[in-house]
Amino acid sequence: MTTLVAAIIGGIGGAIALLGLITFFLWLFISQCRKLSNKDSETGSSDPSAVGVKRSEDAPPEARQFRIEELEQATRQFNESNLIGCGNFGFVFKGLLSDGTVVAVKRRKGPPPLEFGEEVAYLSAIRHRNLVTLLGYCQERDSQMLVFEYLPNGNMCTHLYDTGKDSITKLEFKQRLSIAAGAAKGLCHLHGLQPPVIHSNFKTANVLVDENFIAKVADAGVSKLLEKIEDASSSASSSFNAFRDPELGQGDGFHETNDVYSFGVFLLELISGKEVIDKDAFQSNNSTFQWVQEHLSTNDLVDHRLVGSFTAEGMRDLIRLMMKCMRFPGKERPRMENVVLELDQILDKEITRTTVMGEGTTIVTLGSELFTN
Ligand SMILES: *[C@@H]1O[C@H](CO)[C@@H](O)[C@H](O)[C@H]1NC(C)=O
Ligand SMILES: *[C@@H]1O[C@H](CO)[C@@H](O)[C@H](O)[C@H]1NC(C)=O
Ligand SMILES: *[C@@H]1O[C@H](CO)[C@@H](O)[C@H](O)[C@H]1NC(C)=O
Repeated sequence: MTTLVAAIIGGIGGAIALLGLITFFLWLFISQCRKLSNKDSETGSSDPSAVGVKRSEDAPPEARQFRIEELEQATRQFNESNLIGCGNFGFVFKGLLSDGTVVAVKRRKGPPPLEFGEEVAYLSAIRHRNLVTLLGYCQERDSQMLVFEYLPNGNMCTHLYDTGKDSITKLEFKQRLSIAAGAAKGLCHLHGLQPPVIHSNFKTANVLVDENFIAKVADAGVSKLLEKIEDASSSASSSFNAFRDPELGQGDGFHETNDVYSFGVFLLELISGKEVIDKDAFQSNNSTFQWVQEHLSTNDLVDHRLVGSFTAEGMRDLIRLMMKCMRFPGKERPRMENVVLELDQILDKEITRTTVMGEGTTIVTLGSELFTN
């Protein structure tokens, strides 16, 4: 009997001890968690780097100011073999930063303007899937540099018509439509900012493509930046620019409609696979209609490389949209958000049609129905 009582008491004692132990560990665990979470909120409110980490999801990182030594090392002292182009901002070099990022460095010589850093900060805060990101800048030794993300597949000229390069790829119609839609989304994002950013130098050479052929618009706002840092006399260029809205120069600066016109010319190059070189062909509704009609009748409008990859309806819709973008007066042109919608629709329909009926027609039958609304 006494052994039984002793056993019960012992058992209860053991259970209590076990319970105590569990409680103790539970308490330890909870207090540890509390401490951790306290620590979180403490650093969250006092440590600026923690705030930065938290915020980085909605607010973009600031423009980075590079040292010239860093960029010299990245581009091997701006070695000629790193030269990849020449734009309105000057020579463009491919560079490799020490952290492994591949960048495109644009460099121009000139006295340092005061607001350069500010302007770059503003532009580099604009981030979008269809815009080439401006990572930072450098301003030293009488030259200014802009550092952009680098896109390995280059610009659309090389894919459409730049001869002398091996990289000419045959982009089929739906790919071109999706590139057009991407570029339109980039412009649309710029136009939707408060205040709107007008690209003002939109052209095929400024539509870059990434490794998946996602379009990214380059050089947004750089023209305006140049305008600010250059004296007006040196920037007046007389060379022919097919992308320049003929309505420009009638006074009051750049507007969204000027970008829409340029986008129309880009669509024309996507359709034809050729560089637009006709000087006076697109000065009015009538002359544009006439040009399109003439080229259709000689079977010389649509890129021959596209034959077999599109439907007549899809092509007709795209040509119509192109002509809308190049309408006169400019206020008759669609806004970029509508261009985006239309392109998405044309692409969707084209995908549906070609999966139902197989790849498109081999005969280009685009006649007068193009000109009826
Ligand atoms: C530039 O690049 C070429 C080819 O890679 C190399 O031979 C040359 O030494 C480089 N020059 C400088 C100054 O680094
Ligand atoms: C444009 O064409 C329409 C009819 O096609 C014609 O009535 C009009 O006069 C033309 N306008 C110009 C400026 O040529
Ligand atoms: C051009 O065409 C659009 C619509 O087709 C029309 O609203 C506009 O008035 C035309 N512009 C000129 C200058 O005739």
